[in-house]
Amino acid sequence: MISSREFAYDVLVNAIKHRSYINLQLKGQNHPDMPFINALIYGVMQHSLQLQHMFHPYATKKIDVEVDVICMMSGYQKHYMRQIPDYAIKAEALKLCDKYVPYAKKFVNAMLERIFESSLVVANGEDDIQGLSLETSFQPWILKMWQSHYGTQFTHQFATFSNTPSELFGFVHYDLKDKLQDYGEPIDEWAFKADKSILQHPDFLSKKVFIADIHAQKVGFNTPIKANDRILDACGAPGGKSLMMAMKVKDQADIICADIAPHRLALVEQTLKRANINSVTTQVLDATKAHEFYPPLSFDGILVDAPCSGLGVLRRKPEIKMFITPQDIDELVKTQAAILNSCAMCVKPQGWIVYSTCTLNKKENEKQIESFLSRHDDFICEHIMPFDSFSSGGDGFFMATLRKIK
Ligand SMILES: C[S@@+](CC[C@H](N)C(=O)[O-])C[C@H]1O[C@@H](n2cnc3c(N)ncnc32)[C@H](O)[C@@H]1O
Repeated sequence: MISSREFAYDVLVNAIKHRSYINLQLKGQNHPDMPFINALIYGVMQHSLQLQHMFHPYATKKIDVEVDVICMMSGYQKHYMRQIPDYAIKAEALKLCDKYVPYAKKFVNAMLERIFESSLVVANGEDDIQGLSLETSFQPWILKMWQSHYGTQFTHQFATFSNTPSELFGFVHYDLKDKLQDYGEPIDEWAFKADKSILQHPDFLSKKVFIADIHAQKVGFNTPIKANDRILDACGAPGGKSLMMAMKVKDQADIICADIAPHRLALVEQTLKRANINSVTTQVLDATKAHEFYPPLSFDGILVDAPCSGLGVLRRKPEIKMFITPQDIDELVKTQAAILNSCAMCVKPQGWIVYSTCTLNKKENEKQIESFLSRHDDFICEHIMPFDSFSSGGDGFFMATLRKIK
């Protein structure tokens, strides 16, 4: 069996080289030391800029990803997992060098000295973007964008919040609403705050109880779906919000959970089958072309839980903040607008579109809605839902309910 550090090294190198999600890499993998491995992998991703700052300034040429990962892992063990002695960190780092990058052993040895004598950078007040960037490991452009959209204090708070562990929330099948308190601390008629024991609960294992962030639930349960409606969940996989909508109408509707990615729809089908839900079917669909696939006015309501930059869910996916670029956001804004345009043609008069994202930036949220309304005078915005992550512990989400008035 490979060592826990080698396991973490492998996942990190792959994730960084291929810009892929850690949770996808970890899926189906097991190791007796998984808590340590998870802490190391997510910790390195969460604190990458702070860790790189300990040794990058001393490198005279570009550092290969493999070498970067070995040094960052060492820095994380030294500064965030304080119980590990320096000699053990060093021995493990050099073992990885011997196996994967023997040419870099001397370099890593020298960088470890720098890393061991470093201390963590802390921002010098709320206006110190460069310091905050190192303290929280957010690229400066993200912090500057937040600062201009939401102000300095919020930027500081949200960047710090994004590096804290996420909390666990769940919701129940409509048959189990009376038993909510059996699963955790009730929050509303569907939702509860859970601890990890829920993951072993028979009702969770048999898909009668589900895990979802509290703000994702607010989106799913606040769509204006009514019994017997025909609904398109246009970007629906892995099916969380289709499931919530089905629960809200006691499985009495015709909900099409569509997605561009067939492999993600396979997950939806598994969940629906195990949860015995009959009101949801799946469909492979590029939602920018929904109007070519469905006749005009086909739906009472459409949920566009759009592909987005994910800046609201960094506690769970810290790798996003390492990879995302301003150009990615510009591309996403175009795709979101194309999906909204196409879906607008498929909604009946008096029908609705709920547009939601799990990101925090006005280009993908408020401005996207303003721009949609400027192109579609047959729609009004009925409601924009504010989400307060600091008091609820939920992810950063955005939700706007649009109504077709003609
Ligand atoms: C935020 S996720 C949806 C989460 C889902 N609504 C839920 O609650 O479980 C966005 C989804 O949009 C899908 N997607 C991206 N581009 C798309 C497109 N052009 N048409 C349809 N789906 C798309 C992605 O595959 C991804 O599954």
